[in-house]
Amino acid sequence: MPVTPSKTPAAGRPVSASKVEMTEIVFPNDANPLGNVMGGRVMQWIDICAAIAAGRHARTPVVTASVDKIDFHRPVRVGGVLILLASVNATGSTSMEVGVKVFNEDRATGNRSHVASAYLTFVSLDPDTRMPAPVSPVLPETDDERRRHREALARRAARLQARQDKERGAGG
Ligand SMILES: CC(C)(COP(=O)(O)OP(=O)(O)OC[C@H]1O[C@@H](n2cnc3c(N)ncnc32)[C@H](O)[C@@H]1OP(=O)(O)O)[C@@H](O)C(=O)NCCC(=O)NCCS
Repeated sequence: MPVTPSKTPAAGRPVSASKVEMTEIVFPNDANPLGNVMGGRVMQWIDICAAIAAGRHARTPVVTASVDKIDFHRPVRVGGVLILLASVNATGSTSMEVGVKVFNEDRATGNRSHVASAYLTFVSLDPDTRMPAPVSPVLPETDDERRRHREALARRAARLQARQDKERGAGG
């Protein structure tokens, strides 16, 4: 898809400008027959949390282009509190990698245990939501943000390579 040369995006936005914290309680309607939250429901919350972060960064309509592998590390019971943290790790011309980390917060102690993590790629669209639109570069400021930025660029290169390999395979 050609990129819309619409309005020029800002020179850059810090990672902190797109950070999102979202809190959910697991209700019976979110659970499987074992009484634990369904993976699909957690994936939905991850997608929403990441979309808000991408939208905050791009300030344009955004769509989910891809979701990397998600591992679920521990079950969460009905009544459990989930905290989702999301931020933009890196940007391309029109796309953004968003990292989301999901925690279960113990109500009694406030301690958080890691439930799942995911990396998602969002694409910024023009106002008509027809064509990809440019995004501002993300500006990592802390050591952690710089590390995530480096790692995200390596994942982006691997994703591009995988897509090229797939297209070559499909063409041949
Ligand atoms: C995502 C979408 C806009 C990309 O359109 P496209 O014609 O492939 O666009 P392009 O080839 O010009 O690529 C645009 C950007 O998307 C990235 N991209 C495209 N497909 C991708 C994929 N599967 N995974 C990761 N990134 C992808 C490209 O790398 C490029 O990034 P860059 O500009 O930062 O280099 C289009 O495929 C789409 O609309 N998909 C449906 C989205 C959707 O409905 N999501 C679910 C509901 S929100």
